[in-house]
Amino acid sequence: MDDLAALRWLVEIGADEAILETPLDRFSAPPPPPVPAARPAPVAAPLAPVPAPAVMAAPQPAAQAVVSAREAAAAAKTLEELRAALAAFEGCALKATATNLVFSDGNPAAKVMLVGEAPGADEDRQGKPFVGVSGQLLDRMLAAIGLDRTSVYITNVIPWRPPANRTPSAAELAACLPFVQRHIALVNPQILVLVGGISAKALLDTSEGIMRLRGKWRTYRTPDMAAEIPVLPTYHPAYLLRQPAQKRDSWRDLLSIKQKISDNINNPPSK
Ligand code: URA
Repeated sequence: MDDLAALRWLVEIGADEAILETPLDRFSAPPPPPVPAARPAPVAAPLAPVPAPAVMAAPQPAAQAVVSAREAAAAAKTLEELRAALAAFEGCALKATATNLVFSDGNPAAKVMLVGEAPGADEDRQGKPFVGVSGQLLDRMLAAIGLDRTSVYITNVIPWRPPANRTPSAAELAACLPFVQRHIALVNPQILVLVGGISAKALLDTSEGIMRLRGKWRTYRTPDMAAEIPVLPTYHPAYLLRQPAQKRDSWRDLLSIKQKISDNINNPPSK
């Protein structure tokens, strides 16, 4: 394998960050000291059979994670409390491999809130959503309808980077969902835009694909929101970078968002 192929392979498996200032050749490092032989385990007396518990087994860790996520998210009364609750949350294994928590960017008082999928390498490094190439395209898309990060608020359904940018698992999405739902309720935007299929499916609780979902307004409401808000699923900019022909549909979605903003200005929702 030549150097470039080795480097590509490392990036693909997620090893895309320098940990030390200078390279360390672990092949020429002295071998680690031998591990002392384990002492033989004491022979235990056979255990008496344990009767099956009369109550249900404790929840699986994944189910327990959802329960504690719901409790922690519901207890957060401000965005700062929500950020702190996420930072303290131990129910999503992605936290262990990520460099930073990626909470949000933009203006929390904005009318428009966008929810993407999950941070990539650039977002993980900077702790801000949509700052890499997808984010640059997103910024250009927003600018085309007169928006920027002072007039929108941005977060993701998953706040930690999945290794090698893999798709988040169902368990990871379920554990993080209560936080993003609470995030939306606390921001209480006038318009919600779901960026990409992962975000749309998770927040609309549907198995329909983004091809069918995009461009159609629906309403969104969680039990802790006073009223429902309009929501539009649209293509993810990373998809548009791979499939530029789909930008035509995205442009329609952007115009539809612009129209919805002006409808809301002329006829503001009662909060
Ligand atoms: N893609 C996302 O969905 N979110 C980000 O923050 C960056 C890339």
